[in-house]
Parts: sequence; structure tokens; C-alpha cells
Amino acid sequence: MSENKPKTMGQQFGRRSWAEPWKIKMVEPLNMISHEERQAALVEAGYNTFLLKSADVYIDLLTDSGTSAMSDRQWAGMMMGDEAYAGSRNFYNLENAIQTCYGYKYILPTHQGRGAEHLISQAVIKKGQYVAGNMYFTTTRLHQELAGGIFVDVIIDEAHDPANLHPFKGNIDLGKVEALIKEKGAENIAYISLAGTVNMAGGQPVSMQNVRELRALCDRYGVKIFLDATRMAENAFFIQEREPGYASKSIAEILKEFCAYTDGAWMSAKKDNLVNIGGWLAVNDWPLFEELRNLVVVYEGLHTYGGLAGRDMEAMAIGILESVNDDHIRSRVGQVRYLGELLTDWDIPIVQPVGGHAVFLDAKAFYPHLKQIEFPAQTLAAELYLDSGIRSMERGIASAGRDAKTGDHYYPKLELTRLTIPRRVYTQAHMDVVAESVKAVYDEREKTRGLKMVYEPKYLRFFQARFEKL
Ligand code: F0G
Repeated sequence: MSENKPKTMGQQFGRRSWAEPWKIKMVEPLNMISHEERQAALVEAGYNTFLLKSADVYIDLLTDSGTSAMSDRQWAGMMMGDEAYAGSRNFYNLENAIQTCYGYKYILPTHQGRGAEHLISQAVIKKGQYVAGNMYFTTTRLHQELAGGIFVDVIIDEAHDPANLHPFKGNIDLGKVEALIKEKGAENIAYISLAGTVNMAGGQPVSMQNVRELRALCDRYGVKIFLDATRMAENAFFIQEREPGYASKSIAEILKEFCAYTDGAWMSAKKDNLVNIGGWLAVNDWPLFEELRNLVVVYEGLHTYGGLAGRDMEAMAIGILESVNDDHIRSRVGQVRYLGELLTDWDIPIVQPVGGHAVFLDAKAFYPHLKQIEFPAQTLAAELYLDSGIRSMERGIASAGRDAKTGDHYYPKLELTRLTIPRRVYTQAHMDVVAESVKAVYDEREKTRGLKMVYEPKYLRFFQARFEKL
């Protein structure tokens, strides 16, 4: 073991095993196709894991989005769907769950997170205004740009370094925010786009102190803060674990306190909220809500269903209450950490500390012989699938896309392959199999060639781009 090797959380904090606070009632078979079939499937998919058929995948770690297992309560709730066009009882249950757990006043359902991102971006951003955020997220930034906004990354520098062990690598650099406000003028800042946890940084959390200080700063200048609450329950876990004064507070209390520092939130309920489809938008300001409530009718559906069936809203209402359960979050993040620690023990380069929803392999360190334009993270995702049928996702240069003005590729500092863990779906044995496959691919790394992009769609190219082996 080298001296600078990062300490695992187990080494730092001592370890007691966690176990899932549930048992399994229904199972879904998994199938692994042969190596030859996987090779053919990969070529057919243009080396893009988004273009693989699910039936050709063994363990699916593409995303934690919409892939959760629902509880028996949620399935029972599905049967209680009130499929009225207007004023469904399930909407009021959803509204109540969001008000109770997140604390916002006015709620709109949307079909998923990006539906909510679209509405808030259109309503709040004026053309040419700046949106400052703790690292970009693909769909979030695109909607901000489509509304005429200019995204500025104001995350702390530590977030761009995969090996840095800062406990709150999702924090906003308040100095960067204040400099931006002074340079551009507060009236030219549409809002602060705050995400907890930060997906593209490796699922890294934001501290309570950071959001408290951000609030004070924004109040001085009259700037609004909107929260991407997609994985905010997981963020609350890290505050409970790492921030002085929060060890004896519940996830529910921490979540609500955090949200209280913000002016509203959008949500991809397909993550923390434990549903397969759904999202929401919540604000405290009535005039803004009126505008959003009007926009939702144009793009999603009436303001009491927002593109969802009544049963979807009921499953979400129940999922929200389950998502703030302390034992649930501890075992959820614990499983991700378990995988991260296996890889750390084998000296495989991953983003440290391990985040909330995924283990991110550091593809630049994995394949130092590949240039970034040879798509190291995309290459790693393809190699992993070839080895074992495990599906992961690129989070590097392909995801970053191009600068809308110059047309050049963005070259993000982080070139990562994400092993995203669905909630309540896989067992610890699956994590062992995943770790062993990553190790096998790591052992072959020096022989691995990169990729070239042969087809590039205009928007969010990583979803549908095609590649060939160099
Ligand atoms: N915000 C964050 C932080 C996300 O991770 C996502 C989706 C969205 C917003 C958009 O929500 O998919 O419901 O429209 N992330 C998925 C992922 C796609 O795999 O990380 P959506």
C-alpha cells in the first residue's frame, strides 16, 4: 500500500456493517449473454452503452434514474390511482409529502426532472443572464442555455480533482459567486443553481454551512437560489455523517433545514424519491408559482397531474416518505461505499471520497496513454461491458458536449466512468462481481485502444453518439 493512498471511510470512521432495512419479495431473472454476443452487441451499439438493449445487459449500472425497486406500499399505492383529469386525490397526497419533507409551499408535478428544469429555466432566466452553479449537469445546463442563460461553474476547485479528499466536494466557492455578482451585476444573475449531491463531480455533497453562507451572500445582493433536489436525501446523509452538530439529527430534519435556505427546487423523483417515472417543481413565491402553473399546462399537463398518471403520483408520495428514512439512506449509501472500498483496496483509481449514488472510475488515471479526445471514459464503459455484461456510463468529454458559441469540445477535467447503483435492486454479491470485472479490465488497461466519434447528435450527444475502435 502506498503512503498517499486515500483512506477508505471504513478506515477513517471505523466500521459497523449495515444491512438493507427490507427483505426481497419478488425477483427478476438476470441473464448473461456470451462474450461473442457481447462483442457483436457493442459494435451494433456504436460502443455507446446507451444504445445497448437491456436484454443484452447482465448487471445494469447505467443509471440510478428510474431504476429503483418500489416497496410493497408503493405498489399498493399504484392500485389507489385516482385517474381523474383534474384534482386527483393522489396529487394532494404528493403535495402534502413534498411540503412535509422538503418544506416548500407551492408544488407542481412534472413528467420527470428535465420537465421541471425546462419550466423553471423558461420562467426565471432572461436572455443573456448568468446562471451560477456547482458544476454543470447535462440536462440542467442545456435547459438553462435554451432559455438564453449563460452557465458559470462556481464549484470549489477541489471538486475537479478526483483524488482530493475534501468531505464536501460539492460546495460552492462563495468567492467565485461574489466575484461574478460584482463583475456582472446582481440583476444579471438569474439565480444560483445549487445541486446536492453533485452528480458530475462524483455524487459529492454540499455542507449545511455552505448553503447557509450562500444564503447570507445571496440575501446581501438579492439573488435567488434554486436547488436541484434530485439526490438531496443522500446529501443529507453526508451532512449527518460529517458535519459537526448534525450527528444526532435525522435525515428528515437535515433535508428540511437545507431546503429552507433555498427559494425553490426541481426534482427528478426517479432518483431519491424511489419511483420509475416522475418529477416535481416547488417554490415559495406565489407570483412565480402562478407563472409556472401556467407554463406547466403548455408543456406537461394540467397543474394537478403534470404529465403523470394518478398512480405515479401516489407511488411518488409514498416513495418520498420512504426516502427520508435513516436506515434506508444509510444502507443505500453504504452499498455504494462498499463497492468503492473494494476498488480502493485494489488501488483502482476512483473519485474519492466515494459519493452517494455511484462509484466513478477515473478514466484518465485508468488509461493514461489515451488522449481525452480518444474518449477514455467511453472506452472504459465499453471494455467493462465486453468483460462481463456490466453496463456503466460515460461522464467525461462525450457528456460535456460542445461550447455553444465556439463549437469546440468542452474538455472537462473529470473524465469518469460511472458505476451507478440503482436503489434497492442489487445485492452485495452483485457488487463483488462488479468489482472483480473492473479489476479484470484494469489488468488489461495497457493493451486498450481508444475510440473515435463517428456520429454526433446536436443535443446531449452522449445519449445517441456512435463510436468506432481506433
Ligand atoms: N438533475 C440531476 C442532478 C440529474 O442527475 C438528472 C438526471 C436530472 C436533473 C434530470 O432528471 O432524468 O428525470 O429528466 N440524471 C440521470 C442520470 C439521467 O443518469 O444521472 P430526469
